[in-house]
Amino acid sequence: MAPRKIYLDEKEMPTAYYNILPDLPTPLAPPLHPGTGKPIGPDDLSAIFPMELIKQEMSGERFIEIPEEVQDVYKMFRPTPVIRAVNLEKQLDTPAEIYFKYEGMSPAGSHKPNTAIPQAYYNKKAGIKRLATETGAGQWGSSLSLACQIFGLECKVYMVRVSYDQKPYRRSMIRTWGADVVASPSQDTKAGRDALAANPNHPGSLGLAISEAVEDAAQREDTNYSLGSVLNHVLLHQTVIGLEAMKQLEKIDRFPDIVIGCAGGGSNFGGIAIPFVRERIKGKKVRSIAIEPASCPTLTKGEFRYDFGDVAMMTPLLPMHTLGHTFIPESIHAGGLRYHGMSPIVSRMLLSDLIEARAYMQNEVFEAAVMFARSEGIIPAPESSHAIRGAIDEALQAKKEGTKKIILFNLSGHGHFDMTAYDSYLAGKLENHELHIDEVKAALNQIRSLPVPAR
Ligand SMILES: Cc1ncc(COP(=O)(O)O)c(C=O)c1O
Repeated sequence: MAPRKIYLDEKEMPTAYYNILPDLPTPLAPPLHPGTGKPIGPDDLSAIFPMELIKQEMSGERFIEIPEEVQDVYKMFRPTPVIRAVNLEKQLDTPAEIYFKYEGMSPAGSHKPNTAIPQAYYNKKAGIKRLATETGAGQWGSSLSLACQIFGLECKVYMVRVSYDQKPYRRSMIRTWGADVVASPSQDTKAGRDALAANPNHPGSLGLAISEAVEDAAQREDTNYSLGSVLNHVLLHQTVIGLEAMKQLEKIDRFPDIVIGCAGGGSNFGGIAIPFVRERIKGKKVRSIAIEPASCPTLTKGEFRYDFGDVAMMTPLLPMHTLGHTFIPESIHAGGLRYHGMSPIVSRMLLSDLIEARAYMQNEVFEAAVMFARSEGIIPAPESSHAIRGAIDEALQAKKEGTKKIILFNLSGHGHFDMTAYDSYLAGKLENHELHIDEVKAALNQIRSLPVPAR
């Protein structure tokens, strides 16, 4: 019997990140300056990012070395295991083999430290004293506060109000690791005060929390901004997930037919899928599927356009699938997937038919989460449960077709701070939020005058 968990030795950890930019069949359109609408260069970003990360954002190098100090910190929790979901396979009575890469092993409980650690490291090296950031579900804010603690930086976290209220213990974690956290919209920035003046009960959104953090960083000499998803350098750092997983499956002589991840801003999906997409570009047969919530369906219902990454229109314009930067998604429990935009790399991969996208409703996602918890033991984060739903559906499809598919999905985090969501589901009180398509249309109408990137 093949082993159920496939480990790597610390010596087998990747020593370089894989950068897909030089291998994309169609290059990414450049980001544009929010004021002038002209392509931006490194200097435009240097007010809020350190130069090493700016270089990574635009790099044409296929492999970028992981600094030894970062590799050392990764060893606190990496390499993470690939686990075969034997009980789930049995329950589904599927001929498919289902494997998951478990990123909930990190101290913060998700994949987010994979990029928080190098981001804190490069900022520290550049002489920065403090980082400002946003957080949706709280996973990113806790990861960055941990990384800042490790490298001796201060950290300020703007946490989307709904998550701030739903997840008090995420706040406690952030504070335990020494950072300051406020609910967004907050009184601490102009963007926050404006939003509160317009709606004192504003639920917050990732786009608005980003505006607050960027404003904070732009105003202080000692502070940079740090983003937990979307940008090229974030996906670059997350490729450690897919690089490790590929090595682990090789050890048992497997290569996946299907790779699945949930997609908020696209970083954990990109992290697991990009090394396999490289193989697809080289001619191997492998499908990758990004799964998103039906109430925030950026890839499946959004448009590919230039749009701002934030509500206050302070970030560069990015070429991406978007629902419009003013769109406020419903307050679903997968807070980390409530984002109007998408990583330009993931958007480009979708346009180039290198990946697929699918959307699910909240209740079908929690049905999958509970089935997984009862078969495999791990209680998954609501975000990650979107990937589980996708894996279950692909395994059932394999059963229908009588094919022995190899399915790999990313279990991006555990759900230990999401138990109120589980309580609502188990009590039959979880709502299925329909998408208000008129609100999407209205938000998209507001960006009609912005340039449109070439497809
Ligand atoms: C556990 C988990 N998975 C996934 C996501 C979505 O982010 P991304 O699409 O960047 O991986 C989040 C975001 O907070 C998260 O906490």
